[in-house]
Amino acid sequence: MTDTDQRELWTAVDHYLTDLLAPDDEALSAALTSSDEAGLPAIAVAGNQGKLLHLLATLQGARRILEIGTLGGYSTIWLARAVQDGGRVITLEYSEKHAEVARANIDRAGLSSVAEVRVGAALDTLPLLAAEPGAAPFDLFFIDADKVNNPRYVEWALKLSRPGSLIIVDNVVRNGGVLQTDGTDPSIRGTREMFDLIAAEPRLDATAVQTVGVKGYDGLLLARVVG
Ligand code: SAH
Ligand code: DHB
Ligand code: MG
Repeated sequence: MTDTDQRELWTAVDHYLTDLLAPDDEALSAALTSSDEAGLPAIAVAGNQGKLLHLLATLQGARRILEIGTLGGYSTIWLARAVQDGGRVITLEYSEKHAEVARANIDRAGLSSVAEVRVGAALDTLPLLAAEPGAAPFDLFFIDADKVNNPRYVEWALKLSRPGSLIIVDNVVRNGGVLQTDGTDPSIRGTREMFDLIAAEPRLDATAVQTVGVKGYDGLLLARVVG
């Protein structure tokens, strides 16, 4: 099979699974359409991955969720729909334009009282969030922003966690790029530093799995805070 055939097969299977188990409703597909129309890159999680985030948040009984990297709010909507009554999602986004699109999408989904978009580089907004009385601990973190800062984001997540919190990191395999040791790609460097940090951190119990599908070949990391 050629690489193109392979990719087409992954895509077809993703459509099969997603159409059956995790179809976008009106608000989710509107979030993607409006993101596209506004010129945002098409890099939101796939529908079946959004559903995975939703299931994990539900299993976790999450009431407070922190997302780093909002884009147009597609993953935010999946997460916000899983929080328990009175729960909150805070999502951090660097781009004012992305944040504006996301706010409209969250509003259209009827979730503006659940999900709040905060604009700025996450490494600037995280300390502000941490200083707010009662903001932490979060029950679940979804880290999906600039990969070079993944080690810092995992450190922040630990700081803002409680024993039992779940940390999820997107895009940790990158077409196998994670094996590159030459340090030329800052995203790969950040991801590898993050893996080293997690492997050496006794307060984190983690695994990572490779994924294929409409988003190509990539992977997800899951880590539970154990104390
Ligand atoms: N979680 C989204 C996709 C996020 S794409 C979804 O699945 O629907 C990554 C996002 O991270 C982009 O919108 C990008 O602008 C944002 N980003 C990049 N660098 C950032 C930073 N330093 N702080 C916060 N957000 C950042
Ligand atoms: C990119 C970022 C993502 O978060 C993702 O899921 C896929 C691609 C990117 O920056 O190319
Ligand atoms: Mg991603």
